[in-house]
Amino acid sequence: MSAKLLDGLSVAKEIKSEVAAEVKALFETHQIKPGLAAVIVGSDPASQVYVGSKVKTCETLGLYSEQHTLAETTTTEELLALITKLNAKDTIDGILVQMPLPKQIDANRVFAAISPSKDVDGFHTENVGRLALKQTGFVPCTPAGIMELLKRYDLSVAGKRAVVLGRSRIVGLPMALLLTHADATVTICHSKTPKLREITKEADIIIAAIGRTAFVTTEDIKLGAIVIDVGINKLSEETEVLRYFPDYTNRLAELEKKGYTLIGDVEPVCDTVAGYLTPVPGGVGPLTIAMLMKNTVKAARLRRAI
Ligand code: GUN
Repeated sequence: MSAKLLDGLSVAKEIKSEVAAEVKALFETHQIKPGLAAVIVGSDPASQVYVGSKVKTCETLGLYSEQHTLAETTTTEELLALITKLNAKDTIDGILVQMPLPKQIDANRVFAAISPSKDVDGFHTENVGRLALKQTGFVPCTPAGIMELLKRYDLSVAGKRAVVLGRSRIVGLPMALLLTHADATVTICHSKTPKLREITKEADIIIAAIGRTAFVTTEDIKLGAIVIDVGINKLSEETEVLRYFPDYTNRLAELEKKGYTLIGDVEPVCDTVAGYLTPVPGGVGPLTIAMLMKNTVKAARLRRAI
């Protein structure tokens, strides 16, 4: 391996301890406890784990939190009724509706219903517009966490060529905006991009958020590139684990124990070509939750003009 691994877990820890100190100070000075409402619709196991972890982190850092679990068959109107209540509730500063939502729910109406001042996910059109125009607002947690990771490792993006794989509202699109504001030259690639791999090969920075197992290979990256892997995919076959992790006996042990092991959108062997690489797990994932906590405290302050 030649790449330096970017340790998202320790950067997330650092951010969380800063948030905990801020929460304590807010309480001591203003008797305020920032509050987050996490809403989950249905019983997707991964979403259950993510939301559980968000609520638990609130408790650990001293924030107030509440979890609302709605049935898989919930209608858009029912979800909107809950959001209206949470918008009006004074103990709640941030509202998070876990994605993906069941098919019958109109996600755009849900994003639009959350008060922009409580939109700690940054998915409301107003916050997307604010981000596009480089104005103060809420920035989606995963791309915000990636910018924080780059900053804390002193990796400057100004003047660099960045390629973002994926154009989602949650990661790709806001990521491209943040990198543009930080003076990178940004290309967004997606499923309809011709000769995508020729484009990634030119990049100084690659953000892989395309949702496909080991999509980025050693052939696709420039020697020394900064590679940020946003993917979270499961491998549940021994042959696959041996193929992608030939030197990692711990991955086979994990497969045996849990029935799967995680892999990103980047082939792990890219650590022989990249200059910097985020591991999966332990790279981008922990930063998303840390930034959600930071956004919730920011919401609590902004709502009270503190
Ligand atoms: N699903 C995957 N990532 C996210 C996120 O950052 N926020 C929400 N609400 N749902 C997600």
